[in-house]
Amino acid sequence: MADQLEADAVCILLFNPHMLTLEFAAGSGFHTGAIQNSRLHLGEGIAGYAALKRELIVIPDIREEKEFVRADLLAGENFTGYWGVPLVAKGEVKGLLEVFHRNHRDEDPAWMDFLKTLAGQSAIAIDNAQLFEDLKRSHTELVLAYDDTIEGWSRAMDLRDRETEGHTRRVTEMTLNLARLADISTERLIHVKRGALLHDIGKLGVPDSILHKPGALTDDEWKIMHRHPQLAYDMLSPIAYLKPALDIPYCHHEKWDGTGYPRGLKGEEIPLEARLFAVADVWDALTSDRPYRAAWSQEKALEYIKEQSGRHFDPQAVELFFGLRECL
Ligand code: C2E
Ligand code: SIN
Ligand code: SIN
Ligand code: FE
Ligand code: FE
Repeated sequence: MADQLEADAVCILLFNPHMLTLEFAAGSGFHTGAIQNSRLHLGEGIAGYAALKRELIVIPDIREEKEFVRADLLAGENFTGYWGVPLVAKGEVKGLLEVFHRNHRDEDPAWMDFLKTLAGQSAIAIDNAQLFEDLKRSHTELVLAYDDTIEGWSRAMDLRDRETEGHTRRVTEMTLNLARLADISTERLIHVKRGALLHDIGKLGVPDSILHKPGALTDDEWKIMHRHPQLAYDMLSPIAYLKPALDIPYCHHEKWDGTGYPRGLKGEEIPLEARLFAVADVWDALTSDRPYRAAWSQEKALEYIKEQSGRHFDPQAVELFFGLRECL
């Protein structure tokens, strides 16, 4: 930009609307880096005045200008001519473009027009960049808010299920570890996490009398219990950002040998993340107290998981599960 302007140095100060300050953002042509410490209140000095009043300021020789409060920052630069051009986009001050010359320059209307055009374009570019930043930030905030909401639901479900403290958190963590070992891509992990947190959301459709029953379920009660993965599908599939997270809620009770529910999928027809999740979920369920039975010992549960390899579970998922235990 200094070249285009045939200037010795240029710098851009950005307006910070929260602090009401002008702060150095970019510059070129300076002998020292001192200009980077520019930080003025709106209205302070020549630059602050130009931004506050939205007026182009021209000073033929800044060495003689007492209002130029940054004289110390420019010591040794030998600047004389100064132009301060407010950057205004959509009626808002975005900052100030400053141009410095070391030699005298005659008034030149064509050059002034060019300076104003450049300032206008810069203001629009800054405005666009800030809009994009704001958009990215609000998107991130929205995703964070969604994920906090999911974790809240998930805790509420654990409470209702009378799960031992932290069942879903533990199962989610283990599933993510298994997924990493299975080389599931990082982009998918967020969906794996959401799916694991919501895996039993379908149990919201199972009445307390069944969910909290101390003993074995009757055939009719099992029919209702077996609906929970389909209910999860029905609840979550209309929510666009949870669609990629459906595999676990929908398929976590499918079994490798095809005897699971709701669809009786077999082997690799079952999505990988649901196969991994099943091992984590059953492991945690077996080693926890349930309304219908006391917790199993770790040995008994490990024995059971090994025994169910190739029946309930994908043998590869079981291998990863034992591999993970060795890592711990
Ligand atoms: P859950 O208690 O979270 O259990 C999840 C899965 O872990 C079960 O899916 C099953 O695969 C495994 N699992 C848990 N406990 C045992 C066990 O004692 N023995 C064996 N072999 N496997 C176990 P499943 O069977 O599809 O059950 C789904 C849900 O149905 C259970 O979630 C639980 O809420 C309910 N449920 C299962 N059995 C009973 C029962 O005997 N009585 C009551 N009241 N509810 C039951
Ligand atoms: C849970 O209750 O959180 C897991 C049980 C299931 O997957 O059915
Ligand atoms: C059953 O009662 O049929 C099995 C218990 C369970 O898997 O949770
Ligand atoms: Fe379930
Ligand atoms: Fe579970």
